[in-house]
Amino acid sequence: MWNEEEIKAYVKDRLSEKRFNHVLGVCDTAVKMAECYGGSKKDANLAALLHDIAKKMSDEELIKLVSSKGYKLNSVEKNSPQLLHALAGAIIGRDEIGIDNEDVLNSVRYHTTGRENMSLLEKIIYISDYIEPSRNFPGVDELRKLSFENIDKALLLALENSIKYVIKKGELLHIDTIKARNFLIIEG
Ligand SMILES: [Fe+2]
Ligand SMILES: [Fe+2]
Repeated sequence: MWNEEEIKAYVKDRLSEKRFNHVLGVCDTAVKMAECYGGSKKDANLAALLHDIAKKMSDEELIKLVSSKGYKLNSVEKNSPQLLHALAGAIIGRDEIGIDNEDVLNSVRYHTTGRENMSLLEKIIYISDYIEPSRNFPGVDELRKLSFENIDKALLLALENSIKYVIKKGELLHIDTIKARNFLIIEG
């Protein structure tokens, strides 16, 4: 596996300056959340650093990469191939960078949709992506506060905000996002 400096240089090289700053913000927030909830700061930093590594890939490149690994796109992913930047990031992390920590890879893979029964690290990355310092939307400060008080409530709110946003734009909801929300309500 590459060292942190090598990974950072690789990520920086593949993203715009704005997107790279977002990534650094996610790293910072994820490490703080890991500290707050007793998770691994090292894993939080690594997953955050990687999470958007495939963000600049075109739809065609994303489809080609995930298909080459045997992944079959569902109808929502066919309609919105950019969702695949999360799965593609996990593939690059595993196959190019040499990461074998499944929890780190899953946190990258599910950072956009969420999923049922998320691990602590998956929750941290999902939420940090949403609340890092450069994010700005109505209610972000309340969500930031809640993220350090009750991670499941914060996750539910973030999922619901994102579901509403997708509906408002007239786009398709991913089944994993619905399952993530339902799970939190049933098990919460
Ligand atoms: Fe992303
Ligand atoms: Fe992101």
